[in-house]
Amino acid sequence: MMENAIELVGLKKSFGEIEAVKGIDLIVPKGGIYGLIGPNGAGKSTTIKMICGVLEPSGGEGRVLGLEMGAESEKIKEKIGYMSQKFSLYEDLTVSENIEFYSEIYTIDLEKKKERTDEVLRISGLGDRKHQLVGNLSGGWKQKLALSCCLIHKPEILILDEPTAGVDPVSRRLFWKMIYEIVEEGITVLATTHYMDEAEGFDSAAFIMDGRIIAADTTEALMKKNNVDNLEDVFIKYAIDSDEETFEKEYKMMKRRISDEMA
Ligand SMILES: Nc1ncnc2c1ncn2[C@@H]1O[C@H](COP(=O)(O)OP(=O)(O)O)[C@@H](O)[C@H]1O
Ligand SMILES: [Mg+2]
Repeated sequence: MMENAIELVGLKKSFGEIEAVKGIDLIVPKGGIYGLIGPNGAGKSTTIKMICGVLEPSGGEGRVLGLEMGAESEKIKEKIGYMSQKFSLYEDLTVSENIEFYSEIYTIDLEKKKERTDEVLRISGLGDRKHQLVGNLSGGWKQKLALSCCLIHKPEILILDEPTAGVDPVSRRLFWKMIYEIVEEGITVLATTHYMDEAEGFDSAAFIMDGRIIAADTTEALMKKNNVDNLEDVFIKYAIDSDEETFEKEYKMMKRRISDEMA
């Protein structure tokens, strides 16, 4: 069996009466960028938090790089970089002090630390700014620094929850350019975004609505089977036209594909 980056089976999460995630089946293959797309409140962040071991599922199971969610969440955390929706940097510390802080969280060996710090400064292009106070950086640079902090321990999977929300268009583009370069080096990226133009560049995507995945495929196949040439139209189609019948059909097809792949 090919080992996937992430495999989720019937994953659920409730907050009291609220069923935020209603049984998600998802396979994220190794390599490339996989998108989680859906309206606000669909359950994207909750799903991500369970994958990262920050939230405990209420039901279902999953594996991340072959490790059991829950039982092996500490091992999982060492292998993933997680940039949460509200990633926090220390505004009153410099760029390198922030990186230093995160490298201590991940207990990186002293001799590796310098090498990794130089590497993430190279990736983000923050080398010339390493002694600047973070509070004085623009939004675009702060976001690149947040990414650097998430990469300090050389994760195998990078998880980005709306990494470009509220960032200007030029910085957005530069940010994804950087992500594509990292992907070239073999990392797997799972990302959520509201911007369909960004998602079009992803390899695959799952549309999540009201706590369920209603369609998942390569971005190309998603456009093709909906007879449209952009992901925005796919999104609108699912968001507006998703009646019970379409939902059932997509859902059954996806279930079958997942059980085939996992067999
Ligand atoms: N800690 C929480 N307590 C209660 N409800 C929550 C909590 N986190 C998320 N929710 C609810 O779960 C649903 C899914 O939220 P979320 O996963 O953040 O969606 P998304 O990231 O797709 O916008 C929403 O209805 C949200 O209000
Ligand atoms: Mg969210």
